[in-house]
Amino acid sequence: MAIYYQEQKKIFELHTKNSTYLIGVTPEGYVGHIYYGERLWKEADNYLLRMAEIPFTPSVNKREKSSFLDSFPMEYPTGGIGDYRESCLNVRNGKGQMGSELFYLSHEIYRGKKKLEGLPASFGSEGEVETLEIVLEDQILGMRAVLSYSVFEKEDVIARSVRIVNGGQEGLRLEKVFSACLDMDNEDFEMINLCGSWARERHIQKGVVRYGKQAVSSLRGESSHQEHPFMALVTPGTDQRQGRVYAMHFVYSGNFLAQTELTQYDSVRMVMGIHGEEFSWDLAPGEAFQAPEVILTYSGEGLGKMSRSFHDFYRKHMIRSVYNHRKRPILINNWEATYFEFDNEKLLQIAREAKKCGIEMLVMDDGWFGKRNFDDNSLGDWFVNEKKIKGGLKKLVDEVNGIGLEFGIWFEPEMISPDSDLYRAHPDWAFKIEGREGTMCRNQYVLDLSRADVVDYVYEAVAKILRGANIRYVKWDMNRQLSDMGSVRMEAGRHQELFHRYVLGLYELQERLVTEFPELLLENCSGGGARFDPGMLYYSPQIWCSDDTDAVERLIIQEGTGLIYPLSTMGAHVSDCPNHIVGRVTPFETRGHVALAGSFGYELDITKISEADRGMIQGQTEMYHKYNDLVREGDYYRIASYRENHKFDAWAVASRDKREVLVTYVQVLAEPNKHSRKLHLQGFEADAMYRLEGTEQVYSGEMLMYAGFLIEPMQGDFVSRLYHFVREDA
Ligand code: DGJ
Repeated sequence: MAIYYQEQKKIFELHTKNSTYLIGVTPEGYVGHIYYGERLWKEADNYLLRMAEIPFTPSVNKREKSSFLDSFPMEYPTGGIGDYRESCLNVRNGKGQMGSELFYLSHEIYRGKKKLEGLPASFGSEGEVETLEIVLEDQILGMRAVLSYSVFEKEDVIARSVRIVNGGQEGLRLEKVFSACLDMDNEDFEMINLCGSWARERHIQKGVVRYGKQAVSSLRGESSHQEHPFMALVTPGTDQRQGRVYAMHFVYSGNFLAQTELTQYDSVRMVMGIHGEEFSWDLAPGEAFQAPEVILTYSGEGLGKMSRSFHDFYRKHMIRSVYNHRKRPILINNWEATYFEFDNEKLLQIAREAKKCGIEMLVMDDGWFGKRNFDDNSLGDWFVNEKKIKGGLKKLVDEVNGIGLEFGIWFEPEMISPDSDLYRAHPDWAFKIEGREGTMCRNQYVLDLSRADVVDYVYEAVAKILRGANIRYVKWDMNRQLSDMGSVRMEAGRHQELFHRYVLGLYELQERLVTEFPELLLENCSGGGARFDPGMLYYSPQIWCSDDTDAVERLIIQEGTGLIYPLSTMGAHVSDCPNHIVGRVTPFETRGHVALAGSFGYELDITKISEADRGMIQGQTEMYHKYNDLVREGDYYRIASYRENHKFDAWAVASRDKREVLVTYVQVLAEPNKHSRKLHLQGFEADAMYRLEGTEQVYSGEMLMYAGFLIEPMQGDFVSRLYHFVREDA
């Protein structure tokens, strides 16, 4: 059993393999946080909770109730009544007064985990997960908050979510409903988050936690290029192998806030949820609001353990696709090869050449529909442009299949171009504020997915294309952030529901898609990696990481992404040089080695690249087949970081049984007068012997990990090597 309730002490004990989370209930019924950290084995106590009660506990000292509320470690703090730290729930009553107070009402512990209505969420069998639901009540409002904690013992994860139910007589307005809160004592924490921009997504950032609030957030309607719905608090000196790490990750694809607050009493409050700005939700009597899920993990063994817990968890309990544990076809995408300038003949040329080198799928990117030859038209007109694709889509797909390749296609279903038949017919289908010209971004508006009729139309438009030909893969793109949130269908005063309703509409679309086409390989994308989040993983097993395919920039992007996400989820392609985004020239071999750490593919005009580069593709595709099972399913270890040392990068993937370990090393910057570099590898069985493939050299796991492995000297910048170690008894 992962969850126990100590009736007498009123303590909930939540145990994973390596961590314990304790919740206590005070005599008044406040539900407080006692502890999160290393696994505790003996019966827990609640004296830490009681410490906060004295001398301010309301039953003893009502005069200072505010001091109690402002310092008590709340499991789910509410706003408006005297806790001046960040609240998780702000509710207005029918008169517009904001305030609520929650007390323990009941609880339930059960095996398994319920689905979250309309939202992506983790899942697991009765043997894999156990759930605690604590029901809190505000008697005055007649409102209940159901705090849900699903404990995934093996993966050291607790999935948290909250459901607010209006059981009263009058309507309530929810102005903020966060999904999780963690009140802890400060341990001189540092905060790790991921930040960036278009073409440089998810760079790792670390900083000291200062007094006051430090947040990462998005109000762009998507999880965003700029910030990421992830936050970790770490103790000083934390690295890949040591240190305490408390991490939260949000299973949501829209506006979010992740915040740490260091308070006057040196306690830390970490919260995560849908951003309270531009959000409100009217809850009529009898209605419920389900907040999305937060994935919480603790590691007492540094960031490496945290990464592996997230990786295991997402592969096992978030990704549903049939491709999750399957080798994905090696694809070639024509975007960087042709941009909008292509026709069926060009695509077939690419397909023929690709087939010769072991590539398995052709993906037709943007520009095949309406009259689209540039980004200023036709989004919404999802019918094939027969001037480009002569004879129609099915003919092209059949021909590509005839060459021996599968076929994939690009859509941007959530968008509408002002210059489109769809917009001319339905100008009110785009989000717009009355009386204002909508703000354009990449020449396009956003469809109002809060409307069921729009969702239905979009779904049918996409599904019709997929039903008409043998299409095995869809790249679902989304190239602008949201603005001008006005909907002709939304009643006055409720427009702050739109951001969330949009995300719900998006989830419904993708749910329908994966239900009707369960064998489809779906890759989400958002102008590169602006919507790379666990919510989207629920629908697609891989997400396009970034429009930046430069091997060096990718080291940083993939290190940041790999901090939380399994390598199998990272869309990574070999592209041509000079790189289209940064103009850098890197060896074709290095581009291959870097892309191999993701869902491998190509993004170039294979008919035009040099003979020498083309000649390497066959070897790379063979390498993919050789190593992909390991890369997709293995344990990931970060060995060195170019982001930190500015010279070289290295990572390893070890099979679960530690029979083989693949190390990738990239020398970004050559250094003069350096003979060799010693790396302390990870992922080996200490007392086993490993042969380095292609050599007679045999090493012990312990030497490789503790004494180190010598990288032979290499000439030049941007050069790379793979080292494949195989256990001697394997
Ligand atoms: C942005 C994507 O990230 C690119 O790969 C490409 O599909 C373009 N959109 C097409 O417009």
